Amino acid sequence: MDIYEKYEKSLEYLKKKTSIKPEIGIIFGSGLGKMADKFEDKEVIPYSSIPDFPQSTVEGHAGNFVFGKLSGKNVVGMQGRFHFYEGYDMNDVTLPVRVMKGLGIKLLILTNASGGLNPDFEPADLMILTDHINMLPNPLLGKNEIRFGPRFPGLKDLYSKELRNFVFSIAEKCGVSIQKGVYLATTGPSYETDAEIRYFRSIGADAVGMSTAPEAVIARHCGIENIIGISCITNMAIPDMEKGDTHQDVIKTADRAFKKFSSLITNIVEDVKL
Ligand code: HPA
Repeated sequence: MDIYEKYEKSLEYLKKKTSIKPEIGIIFGSGLGKMADKFEDKEVIPYSSIPDFPQSTVEGHAGNFVFGKLSGKNVVGMQGRFHFYEGYDMNDVTLPVRVMKGLGIKLLILTNASGGLNPDFEPADLMILTDHINMLPNPLLGKNEIRFGPRFPGLKDLYSKELRNFVFSIAEKCGVSIQKGVYLATTGPSYETDAEIRYFRSIGADAVGMSTAPEAVIARHCGIENIIGISCITNMAIPDMEKGDTHQDVIKTADRAFKKFSSLITNIVEDVKL
């Protein structure tokens, strides 16, 4: 099916299912999606109920849109996102971002679990994205759909400085310490070799993960003006480290960071002016 048709079909379905008009969209990374369980007046719409919508297959990711109120504002959260490593094409990976834009969001908060490359980081740190390096395929490859956006969108100030400063002020207000840095998106699903870790570090990355960057590109392309990226550092990606079960670390550490993550997001949503 044509990507625009698929978008229209998903959007039409969601608009029929809920009367909530969200102004903020939040994509929850591994282990962080339970935050949507706390939305007030919530309406849960499983991906599996949406005609032709992709399905989530990863442990730690449910597969739902959750509409409701957070800090008194209408929001839509995604419990579970689609990753390129699951076999989806990039149009499916990023379809939800376009759908959320269609629902009317003015701010997209992208969150993820990632490996810390910067030796100053520690597991359970939160990092605000200052920028990204996308080593996944660019989601705009192929024929451009002009109804979504332009052929050659610029990506300057993608995670805007103004919003980053705002998030820092919120973090300070709620007593949460927060790191900042460049997020590198790789295909996964294998974790990095030591040589890859050294390479990623040498080209300026502070954290590595398997998502987010393509969603931010599509958000810019379709005209979502406000984008915030937040990584939860769930493990360190440092050469010569003893190897454990990284996926289990990801889930466990995300749990440990959950309280401050949740407080940060709640306060961002409360205070942001859109
Ligand atoms: N590498 C890539 N993706 C990740 C990691 C990692 O170490 N941790 C969580 N997501």
